[in-house]
Amino acid sequence: MRVDQFPKDIQPYLIPGPGGDLIYRCLNCQKEFGIRHLLYTCPDCGHVLLLYDTDFERLKKISGLMWRRIFDYRRMLNIPALNGIYRYHELIGPVLPLGAAVWLGEGHTPVVEANARLQKKAGIRFYFKNDGQNPSASFKDRGMASALSYIRYLLQQGYVSDVLAVCASTGDTSAAAALYASFLHPDVKSAVLLPHKRVTPQQLSQPLGSGAMVFEVPGVFDDCMKIVEHLSEHYNVALLNSKNAWRILGQESYSYEIAQGFEYDMAGKAVVAPVGNAGNITAIMSGFLKFHDLGIIEDLPRIVGVQSEHANPVYKYYLEPDPEKRCFEPVQVKPSVAQAAMIGNPVSMPRVIRLVEEYNRRAGRQKVFVEEVTEQQIMDWQLRANRNGHVVCTHGGECLAGLVAAKKSGKIAPDETAILDSTAHALKFADFQQMYFDDNFPAEYGIIPRDELVNAPELVCPDDLDKVPRPGLPLSGGDLSRFVQRIAEDIAMRLDLKKV
Ligand code: F0G
Repeated sequence: MRVDQFPKDIQPYLIPGPGGDLIYRCLNCQKEFGIRHLLYTCPDCGHVLLLYDTDFERLKKISGLMWRRIFDYRRMLNIPALNGIYRYHELIGPVLPLGAAVWLGEGHTPVVEANARLQKKAGIRFYFKNDGQNPSASFKDRGMASALSYIRYLLQQGYVSDVLAVCASTGDTSAAAALYASFLHPDVKSAVLLPHKRVTPQQLSQPLGSGAMVFEVPGVFDDCMKIVEHLSEHYNVALLNSKNAWRILGQESYSYEIAQGFEYDMAGKAVVAPVGNAGNITAIMSGFLKFHDLGIIEDLPRIVGVQSEHANPVYKYYLEPDPEKRCFEPVQVKPSVAQAAMIGNPVSMPRVIRLVEEYNRRAGRQKVFVEEVTEQQIMDWQLRANRNGHVVCTHGGECLAGLVAAKKSGKIAPDETAILDSTAHALKFADFQQMYFDDNFPAEYGIIPRDELVNAPELVCPDDLDKVPRPGLPLSGGDLSRFVQRIAEDIAMRLDLKKV
């Protein structure tokens, strides 16, 4: 719809221009820094940063109701820069002109309600938000759209040139980074560091296909992270991990979309997400807090982070009920089917600690929880979900297993409605499904396949068929008829079909 076709009072707000005043703020020493330079940690004390709009109060001149109308009407525009995360421009990147926005189709992913059968099995009403339907097939595209739009802005302003973007990754960050960087090639080139043999073949194919330089490194993700941290401290590179606070801003769009998708009614809702490096849960909390602050939502939803018992540092941290006594200890990870979240020392932990405190304070009671699940539960729930119409990967399975566990432990009430983050597409992690079907998980996973969830293809080629088609050698006439009839008979027998 064209702008002049919208109600008169909404027209001035539809297309946002640059505004606000973004700064980096250190979560430790509270020092503030301008955004003309890419910063990842505080130059003074080395702690992580977040981006804040020092002029956020200006947004409160518009009522929460009006903001809802603005976002709802923006849905009808056909302007590429506003088709993705920048529908919420004022909250995500207010200083950026729309001409800097990179949109490759990310955002506004479907929220799909589970069928009655699966909801009954889980014992609670729930939806999956399919972030695997983003362009690189994971939620990382939200943050990458933000980080690369900012880099494009710096390029356009002449503040930087010839950017080399780097990241460490368990597979999905690198896929997204390489994809978005390739859009800005040759001004931006990308290099990714992956733990050797700890990303799936599908994930590995993604940065290779996007033309990134791909380095495989011995060890696990935490080791790769240390190396890119070293690179970003000593060399002129742009770090694209979620340590980069622009990534967090973009990922806040996930919360905004959930709110908008549920008519801004967050009462009785619980948002469930897997936790690895903890960038996602940081962004989810931050997003809901901003919407709440502006009166766009009245209630803060419950938030439940889920971790595998093979990579559970955040879960362990919150096991101690007394905040004064909590002490963060990184853990040694063990192999996990939720491999992208197999992280023992999450970079965003200081952000999580800070935001959980603020979230609970603003809600007036505890509203953020962390749940732990087993590898077996992750696989079983992933396969169950996908046998009921979903396309979740192991991390989506982790969410569903976490929902069931959280309901059992009373962290979620049975009358609540949950929205589960399907963070990546099932196809990216197809190898774990295959290991389950073939019953060949290494013992350290501790996974025993359940017969009712196992599946395998059956070759249909009856012994009495002497001629079968081959590529370039099709059958015809009587040979083809006989082939069709025999194969059909065999399938009908296996399926126990009755003749009409
Ligand atoms: N789910 C998937 C599919 C992921 O790729 C990740 C993180 C997570 C969940 C956990 O999210 O780190 O924000 O807490 N993957 C990163 C990567 C670490 O390198 O792709 P988080």
